Amino acid sequence: MKGKPLVPFAVTAVLGILLMIVLSLVGLNHQATLEEGDGEEVEEVVEFDDPIQAGEDLVNQSCISCHGNDLTGVSGPAINALEGQYSEDEIADIVLNGIGGMPAMPHNEVEAEAIATYLLSISE
Ligand code: HEC
Repeated sequence: MKGKPLVPFAVTAVLGILLMIVLSLVGLNHQATLEEGDGEEVEEVVEFDDPIQAGEDLVNQSCISCHGNDLTGVSGPAINALEGQYSEDEIADIVLNGIGGMPAMPHNEVEAEAIATYLLSISE
């Protein structure tokens, strides 16, 4: 008689633990889906209405810390006169993959193209 009332509690405890495990797995799965969703949103950027303006904004955000406010160089070399030195594709490639001591920048291809378009547009 004495041991029996404990059984329902044991069952409840086991079910409770299982429920916790299941819910945490569902939660992790949900988080993974959210992260994937974010990635897809970036892929959905198809093109900019005004690539030169967009490129200028992006350069001001992520390049001037190393290449200088006027892009004439600080820790990185000048990038205000790339015409004849690099093609648009090569500049986009540098942005996406880095070069030498410069790390890859966190931009997608459309942004990298806009940056390249802008840099060539200001290049003498
Ligand atoms: C963390 C600092 C840093 C940031 C941020 C940075 N660069 Fe650079 N960049 C460098 C360095 C350093 C070099 C020289 C690399 C080498 O040749 O070893 C370089 C080289 C380059 C070159 C080649 C220049 C040449 O004369 O060969 C281009 C083009 C360039 N960067 C474009 C960009 C653009 C566009 C951005 C912004 C999207 C950017 N960089 C952001 C540090 C940086």
